[in-house]
Amino acid sequence: MTLAREIRAGINWVGAIDWDRRLFDALIPLPEGTSYNSYLIKGSEKTALIDAVDESMADVLLGNLSALGIERIDYIIVQHAEQDHAGSLKRLLDQYPDAKVLGSAKCLDLLMSFALAGKDQLQEIKDGEKMSLGDRSLQFISAPWVHWPDTIFSYLAEERILFTCDFLGSHLATSDLFASDEATVYRAARRYYAEIMMPFRQNINRHLARIADLPLDIIAPSHGPLYDRPEFILDAYRDWASDRVKNQVVLPYVSMHGSTRIMVRYLVDALISRGVAVRQFDLTDYDIGELAESLVDAATVVIGTPTILAGAHPLALYAAILANALRPKTRYASIIGSFGWGGKMLEQITEAVPNLKLQFFDPVVAKGFPKEADFRALDRLADEIAAGHREMKID
Ligand code: FEO
Repeated sequence: MTLAREIRAGINWVGAIDWDRRLFDALIPLPEGTSYNSYLIKGSEKTALIDAVDESMADVLLGNLSALGIERIDYIIVQHAEQDHAGSLKRLLDQYPDAKVLGSAKCLDLLMSFALAGKDQLQEIKDGEKMSLGDRSLQFISAPWVHWPDTIFSYLAEERILFTCDFLGSHLATSDLFASDEATVYRAARRYYAEIMMPFRQNINRHLARIADLPLDIIAPSHGPLYDRPEFILDAYRDWASDRVKNQVVLPYVSMHGSTRIMVRYLVDALISRGVAVRQFDLTDYDIGELAESLVDAATVVIGTPTILAGAHPLALYAAILANALRPKTRYASIIGSFGWGGKMLEQITEAVPNLKLQFFDPVVAKGFPKEADFRALDRLADEIAAGHREMKID
């Protein structure tokens, strides 16, 4: 079966829907699969393909092109060299050997590193450069660090379509070509933003500003559905990438014999009773994508961990390392947990988050089972968090 869908006359989606993929980068769960969007644009003189697909789906892309009767491609525009988009490039070049591969200098260098194309097949494109397809033309916009250094966007002015590769996308396998179920797409796009884009928030803001004045009818990312209401995803990104945080605590925790769990439950109730929203994650059974998504705009993170082998529980340390890598805009943090005879649990967790500009509230660490003084300390922590959130006038 082939599936080449028309977006506008002469502009077709020719990508692949990966319904069954459940893991990306050997790290990120994909509960709703993903898609690799590839776009064929026919001009009166030249034909261009924007982005390819994952190597595992090369047959699907080639089948879609064949179904459209495409015998010649003049330009293959690689907006980003990661293998989920460029992995099928070799197969594509075998089929269309006369095609020139266009990308940023960084992208072309990466393509050669990954052995996906040879030097004589490559042509660099620069920021602002225009390329004519005859009656249509593409303009390229350099957009590094969303999340690699190589990315470009491609703007088809005559049709007011912006192709954005990973930017503004979502890991969502769906039969919808466009984002018609906006609630579902919002959730998937927010999770995707958290996993992929959040560490580069300042660049995201720069790129949002750069495209703010482009007349847009359609945004066409390279994962998930397209947007025929561009403001839907642009507004969402402006919100997520802003400095605004919400009156929410994220509480990832792990407990071995129950002491930390009792403290977590007490603190959660204490926060809720003070009007603070909470999301709690048991680190022995959780989805790291959900944890990442919860960090998009929570004002505070509290990590709960017992002491094991004289340090933090490895699962708690892993959550801290993950948060450090994702660089959320979280303002406050604290640590709660327990110990038996000592250890460096607190130091390990605080030293694991150097990227985060956090104000730490005093931790609450119980010796063994939590007692009255520990519960009073948790009340004090809940008071400090609620007061900190009130000071920021957030809701
Ligand atoms: Fe979808 Fe960074 O590749």
